[in-house]
Amino acid sequence: MNDTTRGKFITLEGIDGAGKSSHVAWIAGFLRARGKVVLSTREPGGTPLGEKLRESLLSEAMHPETETLLMFAARREHIAQLIQPALARGDWVLCDRFSDASHAYQGGGKGLERRRLSALEQWVHGEGSSQPCEPDLTLLFDVPCEVARQRIVLAGRRLDRFEQEEAQFHDRVRHAYLDRAQKYPGRFRVLNGERGLDEVRGALQDILTEFGA
Ligand code: TYD
Repeated sequence: MNDTTRGKFITLEGIDGAGKSSHVAWIAGFLRARGKVVLSTREPGGTPLGEKLRESLLSEAMHPETETLLMFAARREHIAQLIQPALARGDWVLCDRFSDASHAYQGGGKGLERRRLSALEQWVHGEGSSQPCEPDLTLLFDVPCEVARQRIVLAGRRLDRFEQEEAQFHDRVRHAYLDRAQKYPGRFRVLNGERGLDEVRGALQDILTEFGA
């Protein structure tokens, strides 16, 4: 299949509480209204095996390297079972978190070496193969950590293992995301998640239209 018939791969990123989850369904609806067939999925998870791994990852204490390997193991399955087949059919894939989250959380947050993360990323994305699995567009929802924290507290739900981390952890995650956005300006669009829903949607609509939706 050539590149003109291949679908587009969009990922959503941001610290917990940045508001990305509020926008996933809206983006999927917007793309469908523009005639795209959309696979909306998430990480860790997406496949039955990935969802089992997600349950452990979000609740069980484990070594940071184990955590990283499980994130990428779930991702390998996700790419093979869902993402690549959908893109090959010409569908658009909307993924709530992908490898940038591993760089931000396991790298920035937990201090895992960048070269190890890059090696896993290259392996799992199939870099060097005829069809590597790289996002075409990454929407980064950015808010100061105190704002994100307040939203999570207001929502009043039980916190997962990552949400329970200290404030400095989330600050490191946020800055690791912003560093990646700076490193890959062609792929990243940074959205100010402090604005109201309608304003963010307006910005999303412009970005998606420019992107060919
Ligand atoms: P999240 O996507 O925020 O789900 P929810 O909206 O249900 O809280 O939760 C997933 C958590 O997993 C999030 O805290 C970030 C973490 N995560 C990593 O640490 N590394 C990764 O590679 C991925 C995909 C997620």
